[in-house]
Amino acid sequence: MIFNQLFDEKSHTYTYIISSGKGREALIIDPVIEKTNEYLNILKNLELKLVKVIDTHIHADHVTGLNELNKKTDCIRIMGETSPSEVVDIKVKNNEKIKVENIELISIHTPGHTKCSYSFLMKDRVFTGDTLLINGTGRTDFQGGSSEDQYNSIFNNLLKLPDETIVYPSHDYNGKKYSTIIQEKKNNPRLQVNSLDEYVDVMNNLKLDKPSKMDSNVAANIKGLTL
Ligand SMILES: [Fe+2]
Repeated sequence: MIFNQLFDEKSHTYTYIISSGKGREALIIDPVIEKTNEYLNILKNLELKLVKVIDTHIHADHVTGLNELNKKTDCIRIMGETSPSEVVDIKVKNNEKIKVENIELISIHTPGHTKCSYSFLMKDRVFTGDTLLINGTGRTDFQGGSSEDQYNSIFNNLLKLPDETIVYPSHDYNGKKYSTIIQEKKNNPRLQVNSLDEYVDVMNNLKLDKPSKMDSNVAANIKGLTL
């Protein structure tokens, strides 16, 4: 299997290129528009045909590469059904299968960071978007975010996955590439709470600055900006 985790230094975004092997069909999760040529080069070198691209949610900190990749390769753009995107080709419901040859992902609606945040389970690993980060959780103070929903998404959904499930988030700011459900249960400081109210309290007191270019990024991602 090809499993390529790429990093965008500017937005600290992780992008994943996945395929069952050289010369086969491929899937990309959470691409960044400025990195389009890098993805196309990797696809070319591995003789991969990009057929599907997924965004875990409408990003506020960068412009998605979904639409540029669609323009260049005609791949199918996928998001969750609560996405406000006006251009994606398929909006999946909770617990739907996304197949690329023998690779299979299952969508899990995990709102909280945004209303349209989805995670995607692929056998032994889960792409958690900005819902569950390594030693952190995504902020919940804009784009229809809700600390209550996020608590539910994390504690009653993601943390119910097998302990050894590998966690691949959309971002990391400390150089960590992946984690596991058990590591997050034990070590993630945001998850060391005893109740929903305690979690909401933690999230309400983060006092974070608004991301730069947030409004233009969100608008670009909803409208489907290309280069
Ligand atoms: Fe995000």
